[in-house]
Amino acid sequence: MCGIVGYVGNRPALPILLEGLRRLEYRGYDSAGVAVVNHRLQVVKSQGRVEQLERLVASQGLEGRSGIGHTRWATHGAPSDHNAHPHTDCSGRFAVVHNGILDNFAELRKELEARGHRFRSDTDTEVVAHLLEEAWRGDLAAALREVTRRLRGSWALACVCTDQPDTLALARQDSPLVIGVGDGQYVAGSDVTPVLATTRRVLYLDNGEVARIDLRGVTIWDARGEVVGRSPVEVAWDASAAEKGSFDHFMMKEIYEQPQAVRQTLAGRVDPAAGSVDLSGAGLSPDRLRSFERIQIVACGTAWHAGLVGRRLIEAWARLPVQVDVASEFRYGEPLVDGRTLTVAISQSGETADTLAAVREARRLGSPVLGIVNVEGSSLAREADWVLTTKAGPEVAVPSTKAYLTQVVALHLLALALSRVERPEEGRMLLQLPQRIEQTLAMEPRVRELARQLAGQSHLFYIGRGLDYAVAMEGALKLKEISYIHAEAYAAGELKHGTLALIEPGRTVVALATQEALRTKTVGNMVEVKARGGRVVAVTPDRPDARKEVEVAADALLALPDAPEGLLPVLAAVPLQMLAYFAAVERGCDVDRPRNLAKSVTVE
Ligand code: AGP
Repeated sequence: MCGIVGYVGNRPALPILLEGLRRLEYRGYDSAGVAVVNHRLQVVKSQGRVEQLERLVASQGLEGRSGIGHTRWATHGAPSDHNAHPHTDCSGRFAVVHNGILDNFAELRKELEARGHRFRSDTDTEVVAHLLEEAWRGDLAAALREVTRRLRGSWALACVCTDQPDTLALARQDSPLVIGVGDGQYVAGSDVTPVLATTRRVLYLDNGEVARIDLRGVTIWDARGEVVGRSPVEVAWDASAAEKGSFDHFMMKEIYEQPQAVRQTLAGRVDPAAGSVDLSGAGLSPDRLRSFERIQIVACGTAWHAGLVGRRLIEAWARLPVQVDVASEFRYGEPLVDGRTLTVAISQSGETADTLAAVREARRLGSPVLGIVNVEGSSLAREADWVLTTKAGPEVAVPSTKAYLTQVVALHLLALALSRVERPEEGRMLLQLPQRIEQTLAMEPRVRELARQLAGQSHLFYIGRGLDYAVAMEGALKLKEISYIHAEAYAAGELKHGTLALIEPGRTVVALATQEALRTKTVGNMVEVKARGGRVVAVTPDRPDARKEVEVAADALLALPDAPEGLLPVLAAVPLQMLAYFAAVERGCDVDRPRNLAKSVTVE
């Protein structure tokens, strides 16, 4: 959840570390720090954003051609200057940054304190700095290898030492680390974003590995201490894709990137003439796909909402039973999966701890795993048996938008590929999606106006039936996450079984009515809300029949462009994203970095 950057090379390290931290800030943002090595260790860190750190270092002249940096999302110890990383040992020669959680830090700290080490933070990480001090025999990577043998839990560690100034030592266990291999320089990162400004050639570390980076190159050891040979791979993304451009926030930029993200996700996977779907790029033959008897979907948050859409599609088109579980529940439940079940794990980052644990549990039970993942080279991409990549490009804003839409598209593709009967119309329909999303983006002024009216509210409900219910859940999450307005989604028919008691004059209900077969029923629920003084915002297609029926019970309308009915629930997500965005902006919230959250949830 925190961000790590490291540098060794022929340029001054500080600007590269700071730029890396700016790019990583979406991962965690309660404190930040850097350590630059020269003949001595220069450490500057503070509570607050990277901006604050930049102001602090401006006056300190940190010089050196190697160093490490960190943005923190607090786990052990409150956000504060002294808990910010890097952490150092008693001698002030070693500095360490860490992502993850060290489960046995308390016992290690007790031992170290008994041997005279003085601790200055409440973090689990600091034990590593003191352990390095004890393990030091003149080789940082060797010391780190020894230290990791004493650790339990999860870690991505980057360390520097004044006695080996042009060297960085890294270790990975259940928390990602990437090494960018440039020309005479190396940038390490907890993901590729800080690396891309320097190079697109990267090496991914695997669990249990330790790496040494110095001016001669990179050496990697596996958990048994054997040297591992590995060649860099080229990352498809470029640095500009992770920049805000002319938008005020990454979230809005990413909402506007959705037509292109969807176009890329569809590219080469649907035959425009035949309407057939080809997932051979994921390594899955049609026969193998159709051999499964059940589908189990696991994911968290927004990706789970995409999974709920996927269930409807697979059940309708492939007529297979689908179970969708929040990954954190699946992993501790008693999952009924086996070799006849295809487990589908959905994750933008591919690093979500609960989703990865669910994947491991499914595989342990004999169920092969298909990963639907946006980040190539991520843990999920490497651990899954097959990978269907969403081609959303880097998603920086904590609220997920384009990743969600591309996950939904990937699930449409999967549902079609699983179907035993050809569905050419549905396949061809999908190809219209990028253009239909473009038309939907034109709803922006209308949504902005509505968001202004809603921004003062403290509770909202979202209702819908079938696919609309799944989309309502995503709409409610988006609103809560970034505007801090409490929002709940309900199956429209379920409202009267308890929640209707909360409807009072002025309470707003956003009602999704995109599906013709269910519209009359949803309108019935809208009428029930109105009868109690509630205010209804209806989301429905811009078609005379739909408008006419819905307008009877709606105070405001969000009219989606007229499109094939199968696409409407996908399109409906777009105004809901914008509604959350404008409500959050109106309330003065930090849209891209909402409080208490982080982009990639790599801890349980
Ligand atoms: C979405 O807006 C959230 N930030 C969050 O729910 C996210 O979707 C979830 O943490 C899963 O992340 P992943 O897709 O990277 O696994």
